[in-house]
Order: sequence, then C-alpha cells, then structure tokens
Amino acid sequence: MFSLTVFFSLILLSEQCCFPSEWEADQLVTTATKSAGKTVPTVSKAMLKLSWDTPLRRYASSGTYIANGGYTGNFRSLADYISNVLYEVVDGKCNVTRIIKSFSNVTCTPANAQKSSPVYLGLNQLQITQYTYQQYGMTVYANYATGCVPVSYSSYGSSANKEYVRITRILAAAQEI
Ligand SMILES: *[C@@H]1O[C@H](CO)[C@@H](O)[C@H](O)[C@H]1NC(C)=O
Ligand SMILES: *[C@@H]1O[C@H](CO)[C@@H](O)[C@H](O)[C@H]1NC(C)=O
Repeated sequence: MFSLTVFFSLILLSEQCCFPSEWEADQLVTTATKSAGKTVPTVSKAMLKLSWDTPLRRYASSGTYIANGGYTGNFRSLADYISNVLYEVVDGKCNVTRIIKSFSNVTCTPANAQKSSPVYLGLNQLQITQYTYQQYGMTVYANYATGCVPVSYSSYGSSANKEYVRITRILAAAQEI
C-alpha cells in the first residue's frame, strides 16, 4: 500500500460525505495516549474486520488487540443504532452500554467539514479527498476514495493532562452494490 503523506489544499464546501450503505473493511487502529510530563506514550493496536449496514443502522466488528505492554486479546462488538445499544465481548467478558453518539455523526462527515480538492494517488490514480472537522473534542482528518469509501482517519485531541492520537488505516475494503 502507498503511504498517505500527501498535501491537501483545503477548500470550503459544506457537502456531507456518507459511508456507502453496505461495506466491509479490514482495519488497523493505532491509539496513542500521552500524559502530561511523560515523553513515552501508551500505545495500543487493534486489527479488526468491520461490517457496516446503514439501512439496518448497525455495524459489527471483530478482531484482536495488543495492549500497551504486549498483552493480547480478542473482541467482538455490535453497535445497534435503532435501540442505541453497544454490545461488546472483550476476552470473553460481555459489556452492554448505551450509545450516545448519533448514527448520522458516525456515518457522515459534519456539514461544516472542510473539504480538500482531490488528489490522485498511485498507478490507478485513486482519487482521495480529505475532510477536516472537529467532533467530540477531537480534530479529525478523514480521507475518502470516490463514493465516500473510507481510506484512513486520524484524530487528535487533548484534555487537561492528556494528549490523544488515533490513526485508522483501512487495509482492504469491499462494497456491496
Ligand atoms: C464497559 O464499557 C464502558 C464504556 O466503554 C467502560 O467504561 C466500562 O469500564 C466497561 N466495563 C467492563 C466491565 O468492561
Ligand atoms: C454530532 O456532531 C456535532 C459536531 O460535528 C456535535 O455538535 C453534535 O453534538 C453531535 N451529536 C451527537 C448526538 O453526537
């Protein structure tokens, strides 16, 4: 895969980008958290398969994780945005929580996102557009291929004494027609 070190030029256009209604992807999610005064961040990674279904307002994921320190485990989750409940099974233990985020916020970029002009990458001239926005206290850079198929995300945030970085790379994606 190519690396996404690209310079995007921002243009202001408030046009939402929403996921294809049904798609699946293999993702690698790296999360780093750094406390104030520390130089070394806490890093965890997850490799997962995500299955998305907009008409049914749900998505499912399953995969493995490596926690900071090397501890590994597995997880499965199902997010149901009709009853707004998230079911998670982490290392065999089940956890059921209420979903607070709106489904449209999770599916689509906000209407006030800044949109870049498209760049063309690789031999196949894959067209990538970057959306930048603030959401849930994070600055998000979301890269999409044509049809709003996600390519990668990075989000950055900080609170009083912590800094957060989360990078999601889509390794392979399939879309139903
Ligand atoms: C369940 O999930 C919530 C929210 O992610 C978390 O705060 C809580 O610690 C979890 N509980 C268990 C038992 O894993
Ligand atoms: C949706 O996102 C916007 C910002 O992009 C935020 O103001 C709003 O509170 C979010 N709504 C929900 C229900 O998560």
